[in-house]
Amino acid sequence: MNDLSPSATSRAGDGAVTLQRDVVVIGGGISGLMTARRLVEAGHTVAVLEARDRVGGRTWSDTIDGEFFEIGGQWVSSDQDALKALLKDLGKETYPRYRDGNSVYVTRDGERREFRGDFPVDAATLREIDRLVEALDELAAQIDAAAPWEHPRADELDNIQFSTWLASLTDDREAVRIVDHYIAAGMLTKPSQTFSVLQAMLMVASAEKFEHLIDEGILLDERVVGGMQSVSEQIADELGADVVHLSTPVRHLAWTDAGDGSPARVVATGDRVTVEAQYAVLAVPPNLYSTIEYTPALPRMRQVAHQHHSMGLVIKAQAVYETPFWRERGLSGTGFASHERVCEVYDNTLHGQDHGTLVGFIVSERADETWALPEDERKQAVLESFAAYFGEDATRPIAFYLSDWGSEEFTRGAYAASWELGGLSRWGHLQNLPVGPIFFASSDIQGAGYLHVDGGVRIGTDTAARIAAGFAGATASA
Ligand code: FDA
Repeated sequence: MNDLSPSATSRAGDGAVTLQRDVVVIGGGISGLMTARRLVEAGHTVAVLEARDRVGGRTWSDTIDGEFFEIGGQWVSSDQDALKALLKDLGKETYPRYRDGNSVYVTRDGERREFRGDFPVDAATLREIDRLVEALDELAAQIDAAAPWEHPRADELDNIQFSTWLASLTDDREAVRIVDHYIAAGMLTKPSQTFSVLQAMLMVASAEKFEHLIDEGILLDERVVGGMQSVSEQIADELGADVVHLSTPVRHLAWTDAGDGSPARVVATGDRVTVEAQYAVLAVPPNLYSTIEYTPALPRMRQVAHQHHSMGLVIKAQAVYETPFWRERGLSGTGFASHERVCEVYDNTLHGQDHGTLVGFIVSERADETWALPEDERKQAVLESFAAYFGEDATRPIAFYLSDWGSEEFTRGAYAASWELGGLSRWGHLQNLPVGPIFFASSDIQGAGYLHVDGGVRIGTDTAARIAAGFAGATASA
């Protein structure tokens, strides 16, 4: 326990509680909970203030029409070592994604092609895809995912639209569409003219190479028995109700940083709980930083920068069927069609379940257009898109759910926040720097594991270590 910050509680006449802690963590997603877990392990007192009535943030499971759905983040890739180590630590079991059989590719002309291995496009297009991937990997290898702004050509690369750059490398439109799809629709969930080459390279570098973002053997490898949210729930249970406070959106964060060596302080005011601490960790996605009022205001460049870090938009569509009927037809459940409403689809059947589930993704403008449809038409349109891959049977589910992260006040989009054109080179270097006693932790500002649960585990661990080092330094100089 740190001498400077005794753990104490006081209760005002109106029932509002004021806590004294070493650290207040704002946000109970995986990043915030990992920060808290590591700080508690290091002997510090912590309060986690979470806006929602549940932990897990962008990982969330629910039972709808009698079926269990993972509404947010769910997959573990085989190269996500930090997350895998945490799962082991927590004793969580995992199960593989079903992927035996042929995948389906639907061309722009609506021709349906079944394939295994290479995309079923002509040899010239395949060669161009390989050439584009080589160009991406070559550039990404020069980028430090933890500091892409340090690349000698960062400014230049950050002011070229990814779409323009890809198109300049080849005349083969199909090759461009396929490679573009993986980064824009598959990862950043924004149109490729709205983000830069540098931002795209950060995405590739964070996974080491492009192949890691598409390889069947690596990507979307496994799921957690009980759902990914159960990871956060277990961490919160272990931390206990004295640490994790639900239904407590933080509205105001006061901070001091005398700069004269005297301990800085923060006061985080939530709806039911106020916490006085020495450090605050803002473990919310960057697009939400501005939803909290700061006293004094955050420095000028931070206030400006935060407006250029925005959420993408994707609808995760899931349909449950009596059986995984596609498997009987030799299909894996995997499909791609960049022009389809549902542009990617996978078998999402739960471990040990007789029913079969498909999950598909509807991205950017197609997501806007889909939400604008009346509810019945929307469902029909999504199911017809599933049918483009798997035939008429796909239009007859027994349960159906569309994840609506855009209307979630404490997220406001999906999967994650990324920088707008020019933003990463101009302000990216600030994203991981503390402001006085305020630290920032989110999978969206992490290098390795960027935009993934794995990134949240890593940045939580790293942020806790930085704060623990601050306490150790203060004790040493006292
Ligand atoms: P996260 O957003 O989860 O947590 C922030 C928390 O802060 C939330 O709980 C929120 O309620 C809270 N909060 C916000 N404002 C607050 C305030 N003012 N006061 C207090 N609390 C506040 N990743 C992956 O690895 N595999 C996958 O398959 C997928 N798939 C996927 C699908 C979908 C639909 C989504 C939306 C996301 C994914 N992801 C994913 C991404 C993954 O879910 C994401 O990177 C992490 O869960 C982010 O964790 P964080 O803790 O950083 O933020």
